[in-house]
Amino acid sequence: MSAPNKSYDPVEVEALKPEEVARVTEAALAAIAAAPDLGALREVKIAHAGDRSPLALANREIGALPPQAKAEAGRRVGQARGAVNKALAARQAELEAERDARVLVEEAVDVTLPHDRVPAGARHPITTLAERIEDVFTAMGYAVAEGPEVETEWHNFDALNFPPDHPAREAQDTFFVRAPGGDRHAEDARGSSSGVVLRTHTSPVQIRSLLDREPPVYVVCPGRTFRTDELDATHTPVFHQVELLAVDEGLTMADLKGTLDHMVQALFGEDMTTRLRPNFFPFTEPSAEMDMRCYVCRGASVGNPDRPCRTCSSEGWIELGGCGMVNPRVLVACGVDPERYSGFAFGFGIERMLMFRHNVDDMRDMVEGDVRFTRPFGMEI
Ligand code: DAH
Repeated sequence: MSAPNKSYDPVEVEALKPEEVARVTEAALAAIAAAPDLGALREVKIAHAGDRSPLALANREIGALPPQAKAEAGRRVGQARGAVNKALAARQAELEAERDARVLVEEAVDVTLPHDRVPAGARHPITTLAERIEDVFTAMGYAVAEGPEVETEWHNFDALNFPPDHPAREAQDTFFVRAPGGDRHAEDARGSSSGVVLRTHTSPVQIRSLLDREPPVYVVCPGRTFRTDELDATHTPVFHQVELLAVDEGLTMADLKGTLDHMVQALFGEDMTTRLRPNFFPFTEPSAEMDMRCYVCRGASVGNPDRPCRTCSSEGWIELGGCGMVNPRVLVACGVDPERYSGFAFGFGIERMLMFRHNVDDMRDMVEGDVRFTRPFGMEI
C-alpha cells in the first residue's frame, strides 16, 4: 500500500468547501430560475448539472478524502446536486406548461371564420359508374381495352358486318370526319377505302381487340361514342357505352347469359336476373336485346295499379342494351378461325344506366358539367 501523500491535504480541497459548494449551488439555482425557455434551460443543465459542471467536478474529489471528511463532503455535494436536479425538473415542467399554453393560443383555429377555399369539384358519375363496371369484369379476369374515338368506317361498320348501304352509316346518324372514298393515299389499307367517322358505338373496339390479341380474348371496353342527335332530355350527341367481348373455344349463349346475370347482380343486388329477347345486330348471330329485372319493384308493379313503378314504368323489366354470339363473319374479318373459336358480346349505354340507377330525369344534367349535379354522387374513386 502506498504511503499517504503528505503534500496533498484533501480536507482542504477548495471545490468541496461548504462555502464553495454553497456558491456554485446558488449560481446553479439562479441560472435555472433565470432560464427563459426550454432551449436555455438545456444549456443551464449542461453547465450546472452536466459531467463538467462544478458540482460534478467537486464530486470527483470526494473519493480521495479520509473517511470522516468523505462522508461529510459526500452529503454536502449530494444534497447540492439533489437540489439542483430538483430545481431543474421543476423549471422544466414550468417551461413546458408555458409552452403548451402558448401553442394552444397561437395555433388555435377559429372554426367560425369564413373560409376562402375554392370548393372542390367532384368526379363525374359517368366516370365512376364506368369504373365500377370495369371492376366487375376485371375481377373475372377481363382486360380493359380502349380504341380511338375517331375511327375508320371499316372498324366502325365494315368489319362488324354492316352492309355498305346500312342506314346507320347515313349522315343523319354518323358524324363523318372524312367522306367515304376520300383520301386514296391514306397509309392504312383498312381505312383508306372507307371514310373516317366519330365512332357511333364501342363495338369497333371488339375488332381492334381481335386484331391485336390472340384468342382467348376477354375484354371490357368503356368509351365515348357519338351520334348526330340533338341534345334534349333523352338524347345527347356525345355519350358513353361499355362493350364486352369474350372469344374462346366452346363459348355458348349460356356463358353470355351467366355473365349478364353476374354483372347485374354485382351492380344492382344479389337476386337480380336478366332476360333476352330476339333482335338483330349485324355483328352478332343470334342477337338479342337484354333486359334486367327492375331493381326497384322487382316485377311487383306488373298488373298492379296500386303499386306503380316509375323506374320501369310498371313493366317489371328495364331495357339495358344489345348482345349476342359474335357473328362468324366478324371473326373471319379479324383473322380468327370460326371453326375453332366462338364468342359472345354485349354493349350498353352508361348514361341510360345512370338515369335509371339514380333517377336522373334529364340527360342534359349529365353533359353540362355543373358540380351541383355531380357533387351529390360523392367522391367515390
Ligand atoms: N353496338 C350496339 C349499339 O350501339 C350495341 C351492341 C349490340 C353491342 C349487340 C354488342 C352487341 O356488343 O353484341 O347499339
